[in-house]
Amino acid sequence: MLLSLIRWLKCLRVTLMLNAGLMTSLTDQWATPKDLFDELDAEFSFDLDACASEWNYKVANYFDEAADGLAQVWTGTVWCNPPYGRVIKDWVRKAYESAKAGATVVMLIPARTDTAYWHDYVMKGEVRFLRGRVKFVSADGDGSKPAPFPSAIVIFKP
Ligand SMILES: C[S@@+](CC[C@H](N)C(=O)[O-])C[C@H]1O[C@@H](n2cnc3c(N)ncnc32)[C@H](O)[C@@H]1O
Repeated sequence: MLLSLIRWLKCLRVTLMLNAGLMTSLTDQWATPKDLFDELDAEFSFDLDACASEWNYKVANYFDEAADGLAQVWTGTVWCNPPYGRVIKDWVRKAYESAKAGATVVMLIPARTDTAYWHDYVMKGEVRFLRGRVKFVSADGDGSKPAPFPSAIVIFKP
């Protein structure tokens, strides 16, 4: 009886870990809906997509994971919908610092207003809370499901 319970708990742990891994990779890859990006592009005319991949880049000039956008210099007007895992704080700091160095950076991020990076950096930019939930687009082109979190557009200017 006890052995069965231990086996069941181990199985549950593996399943939860697999799901967590899947969610992380999915949240890394979800693309910005075209209409939301086009509206912002009409306003800002982006020169660079700071984090993208071959299938989801929004500007022809983009950095992918191999180039590592975090390690590059961002100039001009930059679009940044970053990976949403723990590393998001590094992207927000990079955006803030790039604006200090002369770039304009527009970010699409979850509205996690209680985080340290929100208070340290985001609140120094312009914040536009989005009404409703963004329907991010998956690699197979499905953009039908609303995100389970609220989002905001954050603008850092020089
Ligand atoms: C949320 S998606 C946004 C994609 C696209 N820019 C958009 O707005 O639809 C984040 C992208 O960042 C890419 N990425 C992850 N780490 C990166 C890195 N270190 N440098 C550049 N891109 C990275 C992922 O592969 C993914 O395509």
